Amino acid sequence: MMDKVLVTGATGQLGSELTQALRQKLGVDNVIAAGHQRSASLELAQGPFIQMDVRDSQVVTDVINDYQVDTVFHLAALLSAVAERLPKQAWDININGLLNVLEAARERQCAVFFPSSIGAFGTGTPVFNTPQDTIQRPNTLYGISKLSGELLCDYYQQRFSVDARGLRFPGLISYQTLPGGGTTDYAVEIFYAALQQQSYDCFLRADSQLDMMYMPDAVNAAIALMEADPAQLTHHNAFNVTAMSITPAQLAAEIRRHISEFEIRYSVDPIRQAIADTWPKHMDDSCAHAEWGWQAEFGLSEMVSDMLDKLAIKLSG
Ligand code: SER
Repeated sequence: MMDKVLVTGATGQLGSELTQALRQKLGVDNVIAAGHQRSASLELAQGPFIQMDVRDSQVVTDVINDYQVDTVFHLAALLSAVAERLPKQAWDININGLLNVLEAARERQCAVFFPSSIGAFGTGTPVFNTPQDTIQRPNTLYGISKLSGELLCDYYQQRFSVDARGLRFPGLISYQTLPGGGTTDYAVEIFYAALQQQSYDCFLRADSQLDMMYMPDAVNAAIALMEADPAQLTHHNAFNVTAMSITPAQLAAEIRRHISEFEIRYSVDPIRQAIADTWPKHMDDSCAHAEWGWQAEFGLSEMVSDMLDKLAIKLSG
C-alpha cells in the first residue's frame, strides 16, 4: 500500500518531477520531499519539504517514523561524472545512504524504490540487447555503487522481506530540473543550446550510442513498478528499462528537423567518454515488459518535439 511516501533526492532531476506526480496521485501532504544540497523549488515547497542528509542514519529513521512513511523512493545519489571526481563521497552517499534507508525500512517494513542505472554494467557486459541477468563488472565508482545498491536491495528483500524494487534507468531527458553531473547530461544540455545558441559543443563522441528515456516515461515506470502485483514479479529489483537507443549525432539530426540551422560540434571530455564507453548501447527490457507491463510512450521523435515545445515555453517565461 502506497499511502505515505518519502522521496529522497527530491530536488534532483528525477525527484522533482516524481514528487509532483506522486503528490497529484496521493495528495500533497502525503508525499514528503527531502533534499540536501539544492533548496526547494516553489513547486516542491507547496508540500512537506525537509532538509535531510541520507548519510545520517538517525535522521533517516526519525523522518520515516515521524511521518509514518510506508514507501521510500530513494533517489539521493551522486551521478557518474561527479562520482569519478569525488569517489569517497560517492561511496558514502550512494551506498551508506541506501543502507540507512534499507535499515529504517526493515524496522518499519516500508517498501523501497531504488534507481539503478545503465552505469551498473561494465566492459564485459554484452552491449547490444544487454540481458536482464548478465555479467556486471563496472569500473566506475558510480557503477560500483549502483551494482552494490542492486545487491543490497536483493539482500534486504530476501533476508528481511523488505519490499525493495528498482529499475536500471538509462539517461533521463527532461526540461524542468537539470541533471547534476552525469555522463548522459549532453542529451539535456543539447536542447538548451539548440534553443538559445542554435549550436552545441558535445562532450561525447558523435557515435556514442546509449539508452535514453523521456521524463514522463521514467516517472510512470517508477510508480508502475511500485504498484505492480508482487505475485507477478520474478526480479523485483534492477529491471532494465529503456525507451530509445541513440547517439549524439542522431539526436542532433532529430533536433535539426525542428531547428534547421542547429549545428553540433564535438569537444570530447575523456573522462565522460571513458565512462560512456563501458556502458551498454541498448538494453533488453523484456523482463520489465513481461513482469509488470512496462511500455515506453515516447520514442526519439515524440520526445524531441515535446522537449523543444516545453523548454521553449520555459525559457521564454
Ligand atoms: N544519467 C546517469 C549518469 O550519467 C546514468 O545513470 O550518471
